[in-house]
Amino acid sequence: MTALAPSHAIAVIGAGTMGAGIVQVAAAAGHTVYIFDTSKEAIDKGIAQIEKFLARSVEKGRMDKEERIAILSRIMRCHKLEDLAPAKLVIEAIVENIDIKRSVFGQLEDILSEDAILASNTSSLSITEIAANLKRPERMVGMHFFNPAPLMKLVEVVHGLVTDKQVADIIFDTAASWGKKAVHAKSTPGFIVNRVARPFYSEALRILQEGGADIATIDSCLKECGGFRMGPFELMDLIGNDINFSVTKSVYNAYFQEPRYRPSLIQQEQVAAGRYGRKSGQGYYDYREGAVNPAAHTAEPETPPAEITLIGSNPLLAPLVGLAEKAGIKVSIGDREELAGFMIEDILIILSDGTPASELTTVLGKATIVFDLALDYKAASRIAIAKGDQVSEADLAKAVGFFQALGKKVSVIDDCPGLIVMRIISMLANEGSDAVYQGVTSPDGVDIAMMNGLNYPCGPLKWAEDIGLEHVFSVLDALSSFYGEDRYRTSPLIRRAVIAGKSLL
Ligand code: NAI
Repeated sequence: MTALAPSHAIAVIGAGTMGAGIVQVAAAAGHTVYIFDTSKEAIDKGIAQIEKFLARSVEKGRMDKEERIAILSRIMRCHKLEDLAPAKLVIEAIVENIDIKRSVFGQLEDILSEDAILASNTSSLSITEIAANLKRPERMVGMHFFNPAPLMKLVEVVHGLVTDKQVADIIFDTAASWGKKAVHAKSTPGFIVNRVARPFYSEALRILQEGGADIATIDSCLKECGGFRMGPFELMDLIGNDINFSVTKSVYNAYFQEPRYRPSLIQQEQVAAGRYGRKSGQGYYDYREGAVNPAAHTAEPETPPAEITLIGSNPLLAPLVGLAEKAGIKVSIGDREELAGFMIEDILIILSDGTPASELTTVLGKATIVFDLALDYKAASRIAIAKGDQVSEADLAKAVGFFQALGKKVSVIDDCPGLIVMRIISMLANEGSDAVYQGVTSPDGVDIAMMNGLNYPCGPLKWAEDIGLEHVFSVLDALSSFYGEDRYRTSPLIRRAVIAGKSLL
């Protein structure tokens, strides 16, 4: 264990949203924390933010008064950089401007002791580049917290090209001793979270753009079926569409216009219209007083089938069989091992493998309806389904009646490849796999980062293993052949793991 002990002083530069949160975290862990900002008002505001947070914690019984007073007494206001001299670790959380950050770190080198660590909370700048002009760039590291820092568990420990491994390990252990989940990441655009999360937004926007499903239906399926706390459109409205668009553009350009990260015209239009989301009163949803937003598509009640046939042996579907039996539907076992799903009479109801239902209807020679992935088919309250273009409304109604009998609301969406949850999870796993393949982090690093930085209900790599890596491989392959775009190329890590029969984890 190489964590900095509470007896070591910490300094935070920048008392804005992030700086104040980081000060609170470090002071709560027992350190004396020096806080510096070029604006005195910012320090007052930052400390007021901490006082308010702690007062609320006392009110809610999460902390006693003495602890609140002790934390506040450890925070020292500073009015010049020289006052930070005793700190063993300085965390910079100032404006996102590389020249200003480099100038501040340059001055700090002459103020701090030889063994002090320099850390930046930057979200988008290269740690290598911030450190390049320093006399000792090896003691510079990224320490990337998430907003709000006192509540979000994740800290990405970002290694620049010359960051000393021991320095990164000290920051990793220190973050852990502050109650955080730390992950190591190589300094690359977006680090882990802001890179791996791109498909959550971009695939949702793509499905919307192609008329696959509407905003409320996409969000509801990801929440009620995918287990996410917020849908992508709600989340973009919360983050701010201007911020989300600028992060997307920054990652896209930083990767030299990598098609995987290409921003969406829909998002550009939202920003152009000033529809930033909650903060401007309108975004993908309308937040103005009295506004009524459209609801997710939910099918009208249909008749349940008396009997179904289970096909394939995918263990993911076991809860659906249990629910069917509980609903009094007779379940018999079929013999089409290569598929995963059900049959009602002569109609195939198949777990999406990325192939559109229209294509399956032609290839399999039977009316086919595809259904979406759920995090947990027992707990899911909604499911998206799509029929092949050649399939009749009467056949669709039978599939609707089946899922309704299992207690699910059914959203009928267009025949888009991979539907909503299966497509987005497969693309998240693909991006996470590429980050691992390119040495940005470990498989565990991806999963810990996405669960703790964005509250995902499951890490994308573990999720892909739960679905079955071969199945995810099929989804990605189907997307790639449907669109013929580089955006949907399969990560070499997944391809290699499937060929070798190995796990990603
Ligand atoms: P903010 O605008 O709330 O606060 C920045 C503070 O830095 C201001 O109080 C400003 O007076 C001060 N400042 C500017 N130049 C300074 C200088 N030369 N010396 C001392 N203080 C100076 O910004 P926020 O949102 O807290 O972001 C700060 C950093 O954290 C940025 O690098 C950002 O990329 C990163 N970050 C932001 C997250 C967010 O959600 N807001 C999440 C994670 C990282």
